[in-house]
Amino acid sequence: MSTESLRKDHHLIEKMLKALDITSALLKSGKAIPAPILDQIIDFTKNFTIVCHHGKEEDSLFPALEKSGMPREGGPIARMLFEHEVTKQLTSKLEESAKSYLKSGSPDALVVDIKDYVDHVALHLAKENHRLFMMADMILQSKAEQVNKDLAQSEEAKLKELGRTRDHYEDLVGDVESGLVQ
Ligand SMILES: [Fe+2]
Ligand SMILES: [Fe+2]
Repeated sequence: MSTESLRKDHHLIEKMLKALDITSALLKSGKAIPAPILDQIIDFTKNFTIVCHHGKEEDSLFPALEKSGMPREGGPIARMLFEHEVTKQLTSKLEESAKSYLKSGSPDALVVDIKDYVDHVALHLAKENHRLFMMADMILQSKAEQVNKDLAQSEEAKLKELGRTRDHYEDLVGDVESGLVQ
């Protein structure tokens, strides 16, 4: 399958979405979320999701689909690129409201921005899982080996650019999960 590593990323991103839901519920019940947890959440959303995962899709999967005849304009690729832009904007808002929360202690804006972020990203992942990736697995069937190689190279390059490893992000999600239940 051409989309295996991307689906694996989605799985990790979905865990972070669950952690964000828990964060929001805690904030709403008046609990304080410490800075290190929010910093880890922002590290993940900015760097793993946008730089690494969107980077892999934009640099490897989408070009492979275009080469196989899927148009870049007016179809699912254009839609996904637009949704990546929206994710970027929502991530900036999330970062800003997390900073304000840490200064002011008032969680209202952060709660709203977490909900907007989770709603958008959850829908984006679902669209990719159930539509784009299904199409990609069919269209790229004969090229799966090459696509997987490209995706692995892309991931390695992005993580290197970030000075991080995949393990860092896998562990980070676990840390955030356990930090929130304490
Ligand atoms: Fe995407
Ligand atoms: Fe994705």
